[in-house]
Amino acid sequence: MVERTLAIIKPDAVSHHLVGAIIQRYEQAGLVPVAVKMVRLTKAQAEGFYYVHKQRPFFDSLCSFMSSGPIVVLALESENAIQRYRDLMGATDPAKAAAGTIRKAYGTHIEHNAVHGSDSAESAQFELAYFFSALESPQR
Ligand code: CMP
Repeated sequence: MVERTLAIIKPDAVSHHLVGAIIQRYEQAGLVPVAVKMVRLTKAQAEGFYYVHKQRPFFDSLCSFMSSGPIVVLALESENAIQRYRDLMGATDPAKAAAGTIRKAYGTHIEHNAVHGSDSAESAQFELAYFFSALESPQR
């Protein structure tokens, strides 16, 4: 099934000038960018995006980090995009991520893990709508 997933290139990767390298990984894996923009979240906007984690001990630190600098958000489209992108990202903790994954290559810490991706169809729907209107993310 052709589907869309929400990808974020996080502040650590943006500040290390890895935007181009990471988008190239997406395209080489067949994940087609259908919407792209750079934004800087306020802390409140980061809290809204990560609301499912609000009871977790790392929530405050995560939201401070995600609002600490610009991020690049993309809608990626392919067959099974959600799982395909999760496989490409690797485990949340870069120290546990498999060789060849983006987090293994570019993540430095479980929080500074270079990229985010939606973990289910339900979260993809919420996360895509959090950043993109229908006009910004057109059907191909
Ligand atoms: P992400 O895919 O953006 O989804 C939630 C984020 O919370 C996750 O990547 C990590 O960056 C962060 N995270 C998850 N678990 C921990 C943890 N134990 N300590 C710190 N940050 C975490």
